[in-house]
Amino acid sequence: MNATTTQAEAPPEPAVDLSVELGPLKLANPIGTGSGTYGKGVEFQSFYDVARLGCVVVKTITVEERAGNPPPRLAETAGGLLNSIGLQNPGVERYIAEVLPKLRTLGAPLVINIAGHTVEAFGELAAAFGAEEGIAALELNMSCPNVSGGLDYSTDPKVAHEVVARAKDVTDLPLIAKLSPNVTDIVPIGLACQEAGATAVSAINTYVGMAIDWRKRKPILGRGFGGLSGPCIKVLALRLVHRLYQALDIPVIGIGGIQTADDVMEYLVAGATAVQVGTANFYRPNCALEIVEALPGLIRELGATSVRDVVGTLEMPG
Ligand SMILES: Cc1cc2nc3c(=O)[nH]c(=O)nc-3n(C[C@H](O)[C@H](O)[C@H](O)COP(=O)(O)O)c2cc1C
Repeated sequence: MNATTTQAEAPPEPAVDLSVELGPLKLANPIGTGSGTYGKGVEFQSFYDVARLGCVVVKTITVEERAGNPPPRLAETAGGLLNSIGLQNPGVERYIAEVLPKLRTLGAPLVINIAGHTVEAFGELAAAFGAEEGIAALELNMSCPNVSGGLDYSTDPKVAHEVVARAKDVTDLPLIAKLSPNVTDIVPIGLACQEAGATAVSAINTYVGMAIDWRKRKPILGRGFGGLSGPCIKVLALRLVHRLYQALDIPVIGIGGIQTADDVMEYLVAGATAVQVGTANFYRPNCALEIVEALPGLIRELGATSVRDVVGTLEMPG
């Protein structure tokens, strides 16, 4: 028997169904991008065909233009990346006129991430984007640590409920509530978002932290503190995602420290239906697509043939 014959006789690998559903939002695969870590998406077209991702989540948009926080805005620490960008963006009007037309050409389902400084502002943004073509869903950034008041929307279940309900009142788009890890218990916040009509929750945004230059006796970031992201937060995020998965009926989108397909499998087993790749886009721009390509092989390793077969299959010790 020669090598050619052996190859011909090898059984074909079973097809793996990567598609996932977040309520009415259907994605070809579970891999999205983390808001604020993927530019406008168009920058990544030179690395790979962005349409091959499950979805693209863009940087947070606010009602008014924001210049962002004073520099330095990034600090690389031993454990991860600390950022204090401060939601720099051109404001909703210019965004819809100048940026949205380019995003519509990306080919991947587009998730617009919005943040209001009041509950009404969330409603205003949701209504504005809800009236636009070519948007698959809205992600409500209720958890940015880098703007004053930014955490308030996802640290109090009542306020979280108000934000989601306000957005729900003005748009039929699926709503993803992005949660903060900077709370004693994330579950009541997730439950409040679910009750208010969120399609899914995404967890997590960054952990508030501080880097210090002791010689100058000063913080390294211009604003004094920032949000920690990268591989160091994965183990923390996995636990929160698992807790949300156990407590909620709506899907959970896992975010935090993902840089490989193995990381994604951990999130899926923990209970995430989909994930977002964040900080890794900065140092490994092909990372998200590499994960899409590697995922079927890892799913097959479990004897499974779909993402659905893997989600929430974690066996916790009794
Ligand atoms: C530089 C930078 C900017 C970010 N900007 C936003 C943002 O505008 N809106 C938002 O919801 N999250 C923002 N995030 C948070 C990420 O989307 C993600 O939730 C977080 O970084 C954890 O994922 P990671 O460890 O994979 O980066 C930002 C993160 C970084 C590192």
